[in-house]
Amino acid sequence: MDSLDLLNPYLFRYKKRNFVVQEGLQPKDLDALQHVEIRPTDVFLTTYPKSGTAWMQQILVQIMDAAHPDQVEDATNRVRVPWLEAGPPDNPLRERPDPRLFGTHLPPDMLPHGVRAKRIKVVYVMRNPKDVLVSLYHFYCSWKMLEAPKSFEDFFQQFLDGDVYMGSWFDHVREYYTARDQMDVLFLKYGDMLKDLRGEVVKLCAFLGKNLTDEAIDQVVETSIFKNMKTNPKANFKDLVDTHRYKKKTMRKGIAGDWKNFFTVAQNERFDQVFKEKMSDLPLTFTWEIKQ
Ligand code: A3P
Repeated sequence: MDSLDLLNPYLFRYKKRNFVVQEGLQPKDLDALQHVEIRPTDVFLTTYPKSGTAWMQQILVQIMDAAHPDQVEDATNRVRVPWLEAGPPDNPLRERPDPRLFGTHLPPDMLPHGVRAKRIKVVYVMRNPKDVLVSLYHFYCSWKMLEAPKSFEDFFQQFLDGDVYMGSWFDHVREYYTARDQMDVLFLKYGDMLKDLRGEVVKLCAFLGKNLTDEAIDQVVETSIFKNMKTNPKANFKDLVDTHRYKKKTMRKGIAGDWKNFFTVAQNERFDQVFKEKMSDLPLTFTWEIKQ
């Protein structure tokens, strides 16, 4: 076993990113992912954690089902959109028929080389980082492989420092944005999906070259709204809760602006300052709140 550069007992650093020790991946396994065979019809879903990954998995699966009705399967989204950097027990999930979907949190420089070389479709979903922080805080309290934070303040600082699972949100978004000319990437935003899911699904279908009927698009939207995903065991990771890998349900609130229930005024000012320092040169805007 390689010796790991431990950030704490739960996370190790590799190439400026933080990976989960108990997932069982070694740096050499992460390097090997760069050589995963990529096919021209593959589609990659890439996100920073808690940015709407499961939501986009559901949307992609539904679009593929509508576009390839002969390939509809009775399986969970976790099986149908295999996680690229999942630990060894889940590796066989990568064996899938074409067109394949993959999910990953890896930054652009750690993606399989074929993603760029074959110019496959990449969908990058991003979300306002204040809600990402709050959602990740709750995920830390849920996922057995991570340590529940000592306090919200403690976690808040770790997030700003990039000392959390996958590293800095600021770096992740910047790196994907900067790599946009090297990849065939569509950027979608969680806030836009909350505001006009149908519009974003239409955009996504056009990007993927999937010509769906209006009824099929309505169906994709209907099955992907929060309340329907929440009760759908194929979409809500119920299997991970049932097998005690997660202590809590992953479909938590699904809103924009929950950070207002957690940030103090002082934390919010600190966050805004860091956001300004790190992001103001990028032309990216986020939906910070949608009034309920
Ligand atoms: P909250 O914890 O803020 O509720 P990921 O899938 O990247 O881990 O992101 C998880 C977040 O996406 C959670 O946010 C979850 O509730 C939210 N989410 C999942 N499905 C959603 C949907 N259909 N609509 C809105 N939010 C959704």
